[in-house]
Amino acid sequence: MTAEIDPVKLMKQEVGKAAASRVQSGTIVGLGTGSTTAYAIQSLGDRIKSGELKDIKGVPTSFQAEVLAKQYGIPLTTLDAIDRIDIAIDGADEVDPHKNLIKGGGAAHTREKIVDTLAEQFIVVVDSGKLVEKLGSTFLLPVEVIPMAITPVMRAIEKLGGKPELRMGIKKAGPVITDQGNMVVDVKFDTIDDPAGLEKTLNNIPGVLENGLFVGVTDVVLIGEVKDGKPVIREM
Ligand code: A5P
Repeated sequence: MTAEIDPVKLMKQEVGKAAASRVQSGTIVGLGTGSTTAYAIQSLGDRIKSGELKDIKGVPTSFQAEVLAKQYGIPLTTLDAIDRIDIAIDGADEVDPHKNLIKGGGAAHTREKIVDTLAEQFIVVVDSGKLVEKLGSTFLLPVEVIPMAITPVMRAIEKLGGKPELRMGIKKAGPVITDQGNMVVDVKFDTIDDPAGLEKTLNNIPGVLENGLFVGVTDVVLIGEVKDGKPVIREM
C-alpha cells in the first residue's frame, strides 16, 4: 500500500522549492519563518548538499529558522557581519493585490521585517488562501509589545478603533513570549483602509516594538494552489 501524500503539504513543498530555486551561489539569503518557508529552507539545504549551490550564507528571522538552517546545513551569519542581503524568502498570513502583507502568525514579524526589508529581492511564499482584497479581512494584526507597556498599549489601540487580544501560548501556560522576550497583541480592525498609515501610527505608540503590516516591501509573490489534486505554482 502506498502512503497518501497530503496535497496541501505537497503544494507548500513545491512553492518553497520554487522560491529556493531562485537563489544563486555566492549570495546572502534571508531565511523566513513558518511552515511554507520551512520547505524553502529544506530545499536550499538540499541544493547545498548536492553541490549545486555554493557559498551561501543565511540570515535567520527566528529561532525556528535558525534551528532548520542548522538541521539542513545552511551556514549562518548575522547582520553585524554583512553589508547586504541579496534575497529573502518568507511566508505571510495575508497578501493584498498591492503585495502588501500581514505577517506575524508565528510571532516573528519584528525580525522578519528587519531581514525582509533589507533584502535586495523579497520573495513571499503563500498558498492561495492567503490572498485577500483588503488586509485585516481574515487575519488579526499582530503587534509586538514590550511587557511592561502591555496595558497602556492595549488602551491606545482601542482608542484607534482596534480590538486587541493578548496572544496566549499553546502547550505553554500564559502569554506567548517572542524570540526577543516580548508579548504579542492580535488586533481586529473593522477595516484597514490605509495600511501604510496604520503601520506608522501603531509603531508610534510607546511600548510597541513592531507590527505585522509589511507595506511596499514585497517584490515577488509565489502562490501555491492544489488543482485536481495536484500542486500548481504561479507568480502574482
Ligand atoms: C511568522 O511570524 C509569520 O509571519 C509567517 O511568515 C506566517 O505566519 C506564514 O506562516 P505559514 O507559511 O506557516 O502559513
